[in-house]
Amino acid sequence: MVAPEYVPEDAEVENPLRPKVLSEYIGQQKVKENLSIFIEAAKQRKESLDHVLLYGPPGLGKTTLAGIIANELNVNLRITSGPAIEKPGDLAALLTNLNPGDVLFIDEVHRLSRSVEEILYPAMEDYALDIITGKGQMAASYHLPLPKFTLVGATTRAGQLSAPLRDRFGVVLRLEMYSPQELAQIVTRSAKILDIPIEADGALEIASRSRGTPRIANRLLKRVRDFAQIISSGVITYQSAKVGLDRLEIDEIGLDANDRRMLNALIKFYNGGPVGLETLAAAIGEEAVTLEDIYEPYLMQIGFLNRTPRGRCATHAAYLHLGLTPPSAEEGQQRLF
Ligand code: ADE
Repeated sequence: MVAPEYVPEDAEVENPLRPKVLSEYIGQQKVKENLSIFIEAAKQRKESLDHVLLYGPPGLGKTTLAGIIANELNVNLRITSGPAIEKPGDLAALLTNLNPGDVLFIDEVHRLSRSVEEILYPAMEDYALDIITGKGQMAASYHLPLPKFTLVGATTRAGQLSAPLRDRFGVVLRLEMYSPQELAQIVTRSAKILDIPIEADGALEIASRSRGTPRIANRLLKRVRDFAQIISSGVITYQSAKVGLDRLEIDEIGLDANDRRMLNALIKFYNGGPVGLETLAAAIGEEAVTLEDIYEPYLMQIGFLNRTPRGRCATHAAYLHLGLTPPSAEEGQQRLF
């Protein structure tokens, strides 16, 4: 059987920017401290680490952490994703090919089908495969022992995990958005690895416009390098970072043209809301999940967007940022009632 191996979008197999050990991983202090204890304790007892659930917005380093966990445990990492595992047999093939102690990383673990999840429960709990073959009189059930392994599941939507699956993770870690200072450290580290000359305030400028997300910071670093190389001295200074980021239409707080398009639609077509997610998505020609997963987390984090039971609302801060006049208190009341 061929296991459906899957490579997440940013996992160029050996991405040199990914830290390999916990001590190189910047930020997520609480996650790091607790994880290092759980890893050490499991190693001391010569046991496999309990299953780990990582959740939080995309781009915060869930795949990176899975790699670090495997590395710190000195075991192999196998990477797959919820949608890539189509049939119970696909998961069975992955599980039976693991070595003792290995880490199986399932990205988008909330997208596993029910029939696949049902194979996963006994695998996580008892390290066994319970398989039924045939029908009627020909039916037979098998109970195959599996090597002990650690499942690392990642999701942007912990709320969408089924309760039985969620309950089987012994370690649940929530990743938070990074501060500009943490992102500046990440940008500086990445620049060193990529041999890009950068000044401290150039790194901070990129960091400040990266929406709390290392994946965005590293992407912007590479693009700003291009601008610095072609239209200035090659060094990323505050000034050359600013020129590059302005050209990329990333504003001072990290919003790109798409974020602004969404806020403008919310304000101009729907008076700032409330408007349903699907309606708003259709108005700007995006899918609702893109809005929910990619645009909204940061807009909510910076207080530009509220989710209410009646739909999405733009806040006064969003109006002001876009250079628009927020509705007066009375207008706001009329809008809501
Ligand atoms: N690259 C991406 N995420 C990182 C992190 N948290 N620490 C260091 N480098 C990173």
